Amino acid sequence: MILPSSIQEVNDAAKIEEVVGDFVNLKRRGANYSGLCPFHNEKSPSFNVNPARNIFKCFGCGKAGDPITFVMEHEQVSYPEAVRFLAKKYRIELKETESSDQQRQEQQAIDSLYLINQFAQEYFQTQLFDTDKGRSVGLSYFKQRGFREETIKKFGLGFAQNDMDGLLRAGKQKGYNTDQLKKLGLVTQYDRDFFRERVMFSIHNLTGKVIAFAGRIMAKDPKQPKYINSPETEIYYKSKVLYGIFFAKKAIRQFDECLLVEGYTDVISLHQSGIENVVASSGTALTPDQIRLIKRFTNNIKIIYDGDAAGIKAALRGLDLALAEDMNVRLVLLPDQEDPDSYIQKVGSEAFLTYLKEKGKDIVQFETELLLKEAGDDPTRRAGVLGQIANTISKIKNPLRRDEYVKVTRQVLGVDEGRMIFEVNKLLRRDLEKHQALEGVTPPSSDDSFPTEEPGYVSNPIMAEAEMSVGDEFQEKHIAHILINAGGEWYDPEHSTTVAQYVWINIEDVIDYFDSKLYKKVVVEIMQRVNQGLEISAQYFINHPDTDVRQLASTVLTSPYEFSENWELKHEVFLNQRKPEDNYFKDAEAAVKRLKLRKIGRIIADNHAKMKVINQGDVEQLLPLIKLDQKLKAMRNQLAGELGMVVVK
Ligand code: CTP
Ligand code: MN
Repeated sequence: MILPSSIQEVNDAAKIEEVVGDFVNLKRRGANYSGLCPFHNEKSPSFNVNPARNIFKCFGCGKAGDPITFVMEHEQVSYPEAVRFLAKKYRIELKETESSDQQRQEQQAIDSLYLINQFAQEYFQTQLFDTDKGRSVGLSYFKQRGFREETIKKFGLGFAQNDMDGLLRAGKQKGYNTDQLKKLGLVTQYDRDFFRERVMFSIHNLTGKVIAFAGRIMAKDPKQPKYINSPETEIYYKSKVLYGIFFAKKAIRQFDECLLVEGYTDVISLHQSGIENVVASSGTALTPDQIRLIKRFTNNIKIIYDGDAAGIKAALRGLDLALAEDMNVRLVLLPDQEDPDSYIQKVGSEAFLTYLKEKGKDIVQFETELLLKEAGDDPTRRAGVLGQIANTISKIKNPLRRDEYVKVTRQVLGVDEGRMIFEVNKLLRRDLEKHQALEGVTPPSSDDSFPTEEPGYVSNPIMAEAEMSVGDEFQEKHIAHILINAGGEWYDPEHSTTVAQYVWINIEDVIDYFDSKLYKKVVVEIMQRVNQGLEISAQYFINHPDTDVRQLASTVLTSPYEFSENWELKHEVFLNQRKPEDNYFKDAEAAVKRLKLRKIGRIIADNHAKMKVINQGDVEQLLPLIKLDQKLKAMRNQLAGELGMVVVK
């Protein structure tokens, strides 16, 4: 372990402008510097370096931090690795505590696994280039596939002879332990080489170390698998690795997009043609770990699969996971009988990129169209599709993106927006309840005697559907809109209270009941600013460090009134005037009341759930809850009355 005093020394020595300056072309701007952000693709500089505070910050993507953070993010290394990197740059000698014997032994065992794999790669490479069989069988195969020598070397390709124990003997000669050769799967338990008469692919981890191998068959033998792979070891977890990630990471960050293909040869072929932001899932559906690995570099995935059904199904299987991580996923299907390797060799990289651009389709939209096609004219199956798509959308965490998807898919499905929102909200609410149950919060009961959902309030029959929606996000969003748009305006003609103050005072008690993290975050932050007497302005949100908040602010500010009319119709938010800036009073008041009405409904349901689990004879426990119920219902009726609504049921 590196001693804290050493870390302090590094922190003191590292100058942010120098550390960043090694990677980014910085221009002085007054006391600060700016340049093009290395973490996302941009054309005008929004990346700032502040020497006085020794930090960097990007106003485009939100990344910010000190010199150590910068190195960690930029080089994709761990904290101690970043400290070592900087110590080297500033010639600081790090002091470390001694690690225990056991720790050292474990580390040595792991180091030797890497070492043996490195040796094996060199062995396979020598076999490929420097033996007759290697050249006539292996090298000529790679060349016939269009791989250039520099590519073959870069990716660590090689050849395994049809030799019983060539690798084992070479390994022993170098003094490597046979058990470790076996552990790595290079040698079988019968002391034979595992990879024989195959061309070899090295699999690298994020830092470029060889962690495993794959061997492709040369002989035409239908009984043998086309590829065989190393077993899992301490240094190789198949589900955590993406083939090609080491060679792709820089380009993925640069182009802010990761192309995902199926095969080893697809990665190599694209890379050789200059398309370097590409990795392979090695023929399986994406795992959560692989998605998170990609997410370290970009939020955008483009899956390129051949048009057969198996490929498509594999792509869709990873979909929910990626959406849950708030990634944008697009899918490109290649023409029949082509895989990325064959297609790029046929049309060249420019036409290939154009094809990706033109044929890339958002994966949720893709799924909708595919399912609809499968359902045909059968009305029951078509209704099922609605549920399935609503389910997919409900997995997306960011409410703004959910909104976008509702708009796109409801058009494809041919249903109105209210209906789609209703379906999505139903699922969101269900997930929320599951989540609360896991966290030990009593979920509202589903028994008939106490309705799970409080009765809706219908003031307009068209609204019935949206009225019944189970999540409260639309009301929450409306509050956030008002705060961003007009938080700093005067709420009253006497200029004693601002809109933000008014809103906060009135919804403070229900803030824990917010469904959306984003809207809650906006409201809580405003509350903090209100309490500190700080100004609330639209500008503040536009420059907010959180990307989602910035995005929310820009939607609100670029379409200030758009929502009021649509909302009135679709989401039961009734505004009393066309131009809220004329008088914020009624707008804010109605929004607050709407929200509170929803939240009180929820609190009533929670209270009912509590009442249910209490022994009905236990008056002492039951009585306060009944009183609370009456009080809540009175509040609810009062609010409903003020909003001019009728309680149904
Ligand atoms: N794969 C595997 N084992 C197999 C078949 C396939 O591990 N028996 C994985 C490999 O990672 C392979 C990917 O699935 O790269 C895609 O399979 P496929 O399209 O059949 O192979 P290609 O990579 O296209 O190889 P080639 O072009 O040499 O046929
Ligand atoms: Mn292929």
